[in-house]
Amino acid sequence: MQKNKENLKQLIRAGRGLIPAHTVIRNGNLVNVMSSEIYLADVAIYEDTIVAIGDVTDYIGPETKTIDATGKYLVPGLIDGHLHSECSKLSITSFAKAVVPCGTTSIVSGLDEYISVSGLEGLHEIFAEVKASPLKVFWGAPYKTPYTFPQSTVAFNFTEEVHKEVQQWPECFGVWETVREAVQVEDEDTLGAIEQAFKNRLPIFGCAPMVGGKDLNGYLCAGIRLDHESYDHTEVVEKMRKGMHMVIRESSVTHFLKENIRAVTEVNPYLARRVSFCTDDVTATDVLEKGHVDNVVRLAIAEGVEPMTAIQMATINSAEAYRIDHLVGSISPGRIADILLVDSPENFQVEAVITNGRLVAENRKLNYDLKAPARSSVLSSALKCKKTTREDFEYKVDIENGQAKVLSMDVKGPFVRKRRDVTVKVQNSIVIPDTEQDVLMVSVLERFGRNGNKSLAFCSGWNLKKGAMASSAAPDDNNLIVMGADASDMSIAVNHLIENGGGQVVVADGEIIEFLPLPVGGIASDEDAEKIAHREALLTKAANQLGCNLPEPLMYMFFLPITAIPDYAITDVGPVDCIALNTFDPILELIQD
Ligand SMILES: [Fe+2]
Repeated sequence: MQKNKENLKQLIRAGRGLIPAHTVIRNGNLVNVMSSEIYLADVAIYEDTIVAIGDVTDYIGPETKTIDATGKYLVPGLIDGHLHSECSKLSITSFAKAVVPCGTTSIVSGLDEYISVSGLEGLHEIFAEVKASPLKVFWGAPYKTPYTFPQSTVAFNFTEEVHKEVQQWPECFGVWETVREAVQVEDEDTLGAIEQAFKNRLPIFGCAPMVGGKDLNGYLCAGIRLDHESYDHTEVVEKMRKGMHMVIRESSVTHFLKENIRAVTEVNPYLARRVSFCTDDVTATDVLEKGHVDNVVRLAIAEGVEPMTAIQMATINSAEAYRIDHLVGSISPGRIADILLVDSPENFQVEAVITNGRLVAENRKLNYDLKAPARSSVLSSALKCKKTTREDFEYKVDIENGQAKVLSMDVKGPFVRKRRDVTVKVQNSIVIPDTEQDVLMVSVLERFGRNGNKSLAFCSGWNLKKGAMASSAAPDDNNLIVMGADASDMSIAVNHLIENGGGQVVVADGEIIEFLPLPVGGIASDEDAEKIAHREALLTKAANQLGCNLPEPLMYMFFLPITAIPDYAITDVGPVDCIALNTFDPILELIQD
């Protein structure tokens, strides 16, 4: 995506028709998202760049390849406006294999999960992997890590000093996911990241769920440009009236499109050109079954959005919001040739995908063998924490026998936990998890070899009747999280992940029931989406058999350490009150027998 005088000269000549195009796409219907028109037009491509649209007869030389698009619609490659690809558990290579054939050619991402487990060294490996893939990643430097709870532990702390360096990198397109809480408390590193972004003229991407009024005004005064998390359409309207660009999220666990799009379909159609789409967190299963951003386009059309408008939301609107519209987002001269062949704007089935001027996917499959790179020890090293015993997951108190009133974090949605006060037994100075009342133990173990932290608290909503489950993928910090009804099974689950270099596991009665290895940083795998989806289904089935009836038991668990959303979370330093941003004691009262 870099330019120098030499390649600019070539492109100028190619644009003027003085040198022949490498490829022309002929007889397609051009979906021109710039002019909101659809008309018959050819496209000429020189190397990876579109050099002409319309009549391209003069651009054809003896070596020029032709792609016939008769009866097809030419749509710009789709952009996911906010995505943690790591949450799919697919490595960048596997993720690209899954989503590029669906038409997603660019994602905006902080690659923050990789950074949390492997720092800048790991990030450089990921950048190299991206370059070798057909997927573009427009990287935003995370405003800071850890995200919201400064005391928790990650492998690498993103600070103002780091921003001074990385914002100069060619890969850096902005500041990623600057959460409202950090701005509101005037966090020094966060404001430092923003200060650097102003100096470097980079956009600041936001994250402000359930924020309005004066808090929103204050947040916007920090220069935040866009947001991807609104819980209803009135929130969308207020944010947009106050100048924000809105990236509507339709993830595997939070389905906001139907509600958020009402801002356009019911309140004000003129908002449409400042709305775009993202999927934030998607599972391999969903990508295989529903598609990716193409699915969001279809959903928007089903909600009454004009096909052209929905396509603009998935292309040029994102590109403009992130100030990358000179590179991607439209089929125009000078832009990178990321072009989809689609059956019709209304049906929106992606039949072929061109990235960087090359036909890479047909009939929803890559047409070449894309191999994952060899991983260095930075991304493949084992979890750096000590093996555990059952005692590590027994909550000890100062009375011998009696009762304990505890604050259990009660899951109400994938990211939302509310307070639940519940009384459970104390036996031999241990607070006993209570499956009858749905009170389980949950623990987060620091796993980067930095301090050996381990927290322990109570949670509800998972309804496990026995056993345990654990994951070394757990945004935002990606420490090791384990939950269970039995301390021995919790210990077995944790030790299995330590022995196997990370993954997700379900254990019952001392046995490993299901295990999904995640060897890339303990958070991702180079296996194909089909394999990951299959293993995830087995994990879910195993959790269901233990009594859990949540739609995504392990995903609901692995979001527990996210402190950015009220009311409760747990990190390696303890259970967290996300409003006060303090750790808290989950024992409310002890009653001796
Ligand atoms: Fe996010």
